[in-house]
Amino acid sequence: MKLMRSAPRWGRPAALEMDSRACVRVAGARLLAPTNSTRVPETPAPIRNTMAAMADSDVEIRAATLGDVPAIRSLLAALGDDGPATTVDIVGPYLGHLIDHATALVSERAGDILAFGAGVDTGVSRHLADLFVRPELLGQGIGRPLLAAVFEDAWPRTTFASADPRALPLYVRAGMTPLWPCLYLEGSADGLPAPDPAITIAAAAPDSLSELERAWTGAHRPTDHAFWASQANAEPFAVFESGQPVALGYARARQASPARVIDRMIIRPGSDPIAPVLAAIRLGAGGSAIVVCLFGPHPALPVLLQARFRIIDRDQFMASDVALVDPIRLLPNPGML
Ligand SMILES: CC(C)(COP(=O)(O)OP(=O)(O)OC[C@H]1O[C@@H](n2cnc3c(N)ncnc32)[C@H](O)[C@@H]1OP(=O)(O)O)[C@@H](O)C(=O)NCCC(=O)NCCS
Repeated sequence: MKLMRSAPRWGRPAALEMDSRACVRVAGARLLAPTNSTRVPETPAPIRNTMAAMADSDVEIRAATLGDVPAIRSLLAALGDDGPATTVDIVGPYLGHLIDHATALVSERAGDILAFGAGVDTGVSRHLADLFVRPELLGQGIGRPLLAAVFEDAWPRTTFASADPRALPLYVRAGMTPLWPCLYLEGSADGLPAPDPAITIAAAAPDSLSELERAWTGAHRPTDHAFWASQANAEPFAVFESGQPVALGYARARQASPARVIDRMIIRPGSDPIAPVLAAIRLGAGGSAIVVCLFGPHPALPVLLQARFRIIDRDQFMASDVALVDPIRLLPNPGML
């Protein structure tokens, strides 16, 4: 998740406002490879983590519950990754979705929540969505056992590393390689090149978008699609070229900004990766500024910079296998890939 702000911060993108987080795959191959991730129990259950016990015998790692959300939000806010919802609430529903449908854990000592970590099974990887330790406890061995508990023995693995100097080394040691930067660009649709007349875009139901993703990538994520469509002022859409679907995605409002955001987008293997992105920006912006998240290799990057978009933030995408994600056919949700 990611809370965009102007001040520098270490915090990792919580739902890119904690607004987002993301991952995918490429070229000639699958966009998303089927995962062999180990399934995590869905029922919140206490977990005694042996590494945690080694680091600090008083720290227990357990499943997060909805009752922990206020404490988790305080922790995120202390790191600058949550804050007052000046427009809509994005972080609250995101945490609720992780707690209900993903692996969401807290590290606790004497009833006090010290850290929060979450991982999502994306159909291509176990994706580390969030890992946050209380600011006064950074670098004291709390994050590493929590990371191990989130991943368990699930492979392959993906994440977006923040600029915190502890994050990337921890993730390398957990088996992931730094691949591409993920760049957050903000701008207006006004300066974009003229639309391609063969490209159309229309509202779509999340079930049909989930089915398109499954057909294009093999990843079956109906619950996540329903969540993306349920977010504040969400606009699920499909892009067509000569009547055939070539991309799918979601736009939505942001928590602390009047700008909107392209929350996630997938482009059909073999299709032009630029025109659908421009169409999505035009629709998703709806006359406002808009934020879009591109991997460094995406060919729309120079087009958007030419159109005076500004890079306002960045993360480092990491994966245990370079072929898991196609950087030109996924505009990731950094929280959920
Ligand atoms: C990133 C974060 C979760 C890590 O948790 P933590 O409890 O601080 O980390 P730990 O103390 O368990 O481990 C840090 C490790 O990084 C190593 N490290 C620190 N700086 C390093 C550097 N410059 N190069 C290499 N290794 C480094 C430490 O030695 C330590 O390893 P060790 O336990 O084997 O000695 C935590 O610092 C945090 O919440 N940061 C702010 C929010 C954030 O950015 N989260 C990450 C989002 S991707």
